[in-house]
Amino acid sequence: MKIFYNTKDIQTYLATQNSQSIGFVPTMGALHEGHISLIATARQKCHIVVVSIFINPTQFLASEDIEKYPSKLLADEKICRLAKVDVLFVPTVSQIYHKLETKLLAPSSKAYILEGIDRPGHFDGVLQVVLKLFHIVRPDFAFFGKKDAQQLYLVQNMVETYFLDITIVPCETVRETTGLAKSSRNSYLSSDDRTKADQISKSLKTAVKKVQAGEHSTELLKSIIKEKLANLSICYVEIVDKQFDSIDTIKPNDTIILVAVHVGKTRLIDNIWL
Ligand code: PAJ
Repeated sequence: MKIFYNTKDIQTYLATQNSQSIGFVPTMGALHEGHISLIATARQKCHIVVVSIFINPTQFLASEDIEKYPSKLLADEKICRLAKVDVLFVPTVSQIYHKLETKLLAPSSKAYILEGIDRPGHFDGVLQVVLKLFHIVRPDFAFFGKKDAQQLYLVQNMVETYFLDITIVPCETVRETTGLAKSSRNSYLSSDDRTKADQISKSLKTAVKKVQAGEHSTELLKSIIKEKLANLSICYVEIVDKQFDSIDTIKPNDTIILVAVHVGKTRLIDNIWL
C-alpha cells in the first residue's frame, strides 16, 4: 500500500496508472466496519482502490469541536492494509486549502433542511472537500454510505451539476448486532448511552413494519417513531422521497425515513430506505 501525504505526489503516481479503473472512498478516518464495507465494494469493482483520511475543517461549525473528532491514524493504516487498499491519501489542511478559496454552495433547499438545520453550512464544506478530492484522485467510481443519505444525495447532485465523469456508488449501512448504525461517534457512547441509542434503529424498524401493514400516512409514522424515541433528545424525524422533498404519504421504492437524536452529548443519525 502506498501512502501519500502530499497532493502533487499522489497526482503524479495516479497519472501513471491511467489505464486502470480507480475506485475512491473518502473518509475522515477512525475507520470502522461501515468504512470497510465501502472499501470492500470498491475492491470488488475497481483495479485501484484509493482511500482518503482527512478531517475536513470546513464541514465543522465553529461551535463543533473538531479537535475532539477521533483520530486513529495508525489503526486506520493497518485496517487499510488488511482491506487491500492500494493508495492511502492523508493530506494536511494546508495541502487541501488555499488562502483564497473559490467556494462551492450546496443547493440551500436541500442543504439547509434536516442535517443542515442544526449544522448550517456543513454541506457546503462537505461538497467543497469532496470536489477537491475528486479532482486530485480523478476516480471512475466513488463510494458513499447510505447512512449519510443527505450527503449522498448532495454529492450525487454535485456530480450531475458539475458534469463530473464519476459514478457514485451508494453502499448499505453497516450495523451492530443490536441494529445501531456503525459510526465513528459511537466511541463517545457509554454502555448506558448505547442501550438508549439502540432505540433509534428499533424505531425505524417499527415504522417499516407499520408501512408493510398498510400505514402510509407519514405524519402518523413520524409520531410512532417519536413515541419510540421518547427517552432521547430528538433533533428531527422526517420522511422524504429520494429527491429529499417532504411527502405526506409513503411512495413505494422512493421513500427515506430519517432520524437524528442526541444521546447525551453525542449526535447520532440513522435512516431507512423504502
Ligand atoms: P465519514 O463520516 O468518515 O464517512 C465516510 C464514508 O463512510 C461516508 O460515505 C459514510 O456515509 C460512510 N459510512 C459511515 N458509517 C457507515 C455505516 N455504518 N455503514 C456504511 N457506510 C458508512 O462522511 C464523511 O466521512 C465526510 O463527510 C466525507 C465524505 C469524507 C467528506 O469529508
